[in-house]
Amino acid sequence: MPDLMDEITSLAKRRGIAFQSSEIYGGLRSSWDYGPLGVELKRNVRDAWWRSMVQLRDDVVGLDAAVIMSPRVWEASGHLEVFHDPLVECLNCHQRYREDELPGDPKTCPNCGNHAFTPARQFNLMFKTHMGPVADDDNAVYLRPETAQGMFVDFGIVQQASRKKLPFGIAQIGKAFRNEITPGNFIFRMREFEQMEMEYFVKPGTDEEWHDYWVDQRLRWFTDLGIAKGNLRTREHDPDELSHYSKRTVDIEYRFPWTDWGELEGIANRTDYDLKAHERASGEDLTYFDPETEERYHPYVIEPAAGVDRAVLAFLIDAYRVEEAPTAKGGTEKRTLLALHKDLAPIKVAVLPLSRNDRLVPAAREVFDLVKPRWMSDYDDAGSIGRRYRRQDEVGTPLCVTVDFETLDDRAVTIRERDSMQQDRVPVSGLVEYLQERL
Ligand code: GAP
Repeated sequence: MPDLMDEITSLAKRRGIAFQSSEIYGGLRSSWDYGPLGVELKRNVRDAWWRSMVQLRDDVVGLDAAVIMSPRVWEASGHLEVFHDPLVECLNCHQRYREDELPGDPKTCPNCGNHAFTPARQFNLMFKTHMGPVADDDNAVYLRPETAQGMFVDFGIVQQASRKKLPFGIAQIGKAFRNEITPGNFIFRMREFEQMEMEYFVKPGTDEEWHDYWVDQRLRWFTDLGIAKGNLRTREHDPDELSHYSKRTVDIEYRFPWTDWGELEGIANRTDYDLKAHERASGEDLTYFDPETEERYHPYVIEPAAGVDRAVLAFLIDAYRVEEAPTAKGGTEKRTLLALHKDLAPIKVAVLPLSRNDRLVPAAREVFDLVKPRWMSDYDDAGSIGRRYRRQDEVGTPLCVTVDFETLDDRAVTIRERDSMQQDRVPVSGLVEYLQERL
C-alpha cells in the first residue's frame, strides 16, 4: 500500500506534523523536522513512555546522559569493531545498498535491475567527529549510536545515588545517530533519530523470566495506546541475526504498509556483556553487592529499546482513516481522521466560535481561557464550522467545543466527539469537569 504512505506523508507535511529538513535547499535525505503538531505528538509519545516506564514504577529511575561520550566507551562496547553494515555498490548505476537488504535471488539492484555488485565492505555506522580545534585521530569522538551505553557506564553512580536494589532499571530518552546506508520510508529509518531505552538490571538466572515479562509489558504499551493487536507481532531473532551483545532478542514488529512487518522495538537480553566490558576497559568495579545474599556479581540486563520516531509513525499509520461522513445537507462527504488515543493527540480541545461575530468572540475567548491552562488547546475561527471540524479530525483532536449564539443566552456550549461525531450540550460551568472525564 504505497499510496497510504503518500497520503500520510502529505498530511504530515500539510498539517505541520513532520516534513523534510532543510527543504528550501532541496532537503537532506534521512533528516526530518517535526512541526508544531508533530512536536506535541512526539512529546506525548515520550511522556506516555516515561509515565509507564518510570513514573508508575518504583523500580526504574531516569537518566539524561551526554550524546558525545568518551571514545573509550565505543571501544569497550564493541561498537567500533562490530557496529557495521555490509555495503555494496551496483556495478552498473553505482547506487549503494546494504547487501542484506537487496531484494531477489540473484540479488537485484532496485534502481536499474542489474545483478552485479562490488564485494561487500563492512561500513561502520557511527558518525565520527572531533572534539576541540584539532581534527586528528587523538581527538576523534563519536555521536552515540544508542542511548544504552549511558546507562551502563553510569550504572554504579546511579545505583548508589538512587539506593535501588536489584531488579531495577535506568531509563533514558534521547537522540541517537547512525550513518545508515539506506535511510528511508519517511521517519522509519533516519540518520538522526530518538530512542527510548531502559536497561533493567537483574540477578543472573532470573533474566529469562524478566525478558518475557518485558516483552509482554511493551506489547501492552502499544495496544493500550490504541494500536490494533492484529497489526503487531513479536519475532525472535535468529542466532545469526543477534547483536554482538545479545543472548536473545525479541522484536515487536508493526505491519508497516511498505513491507509485511517492520521492527518497532527490540527487547534484548544483553547478559552481563556491557558491564563486564566496561569494567575491563575502565578498571572500575561494576559489580552489584546483594545485601540479602551477601553475594557480589555482575547483573544481567534486559533492554526494551524503542524508537520515538518509529513509534510516532506506527501511531500515525494505525490512526489514519478516510471515511464517508454525513453533511448538513443530507449527503455524505469524505472525512480524513486521525483516530489517535487521547493521550497522544497533539491538541486535546479545539474551541470554535460559530463566527467572528463581535458578541460571540468574548464568550469563545472566555471558554478558551478555561481550557487552555489544562489541556493543549486550539482556537480556530477561520472558515465554516464543518470545515473546522474536518481540520481538527485530520489532526486527531478528540473534542471540539462550539460557541454559538445560544451560548449567549443559555451559557452552554456544544461538544463534538471526534470518532462518533456525537454532540452534547454542556453548561459552561460544567465544561471543565465534562472534559476532564473524557480526557
Ligand atoms: N540499544 C539497542 C538498540 O539500539 P536497535 O534495535 O538497534 O537496538 C532500537 O534500536 C530501536 O531504535 C529500534 O527498534 C527502532 O525503533 C529505533 N531505531 C533504530 N535505528 C533507527 C533509525 N535509523 N531510524 C529510526 N529509528 C531507529
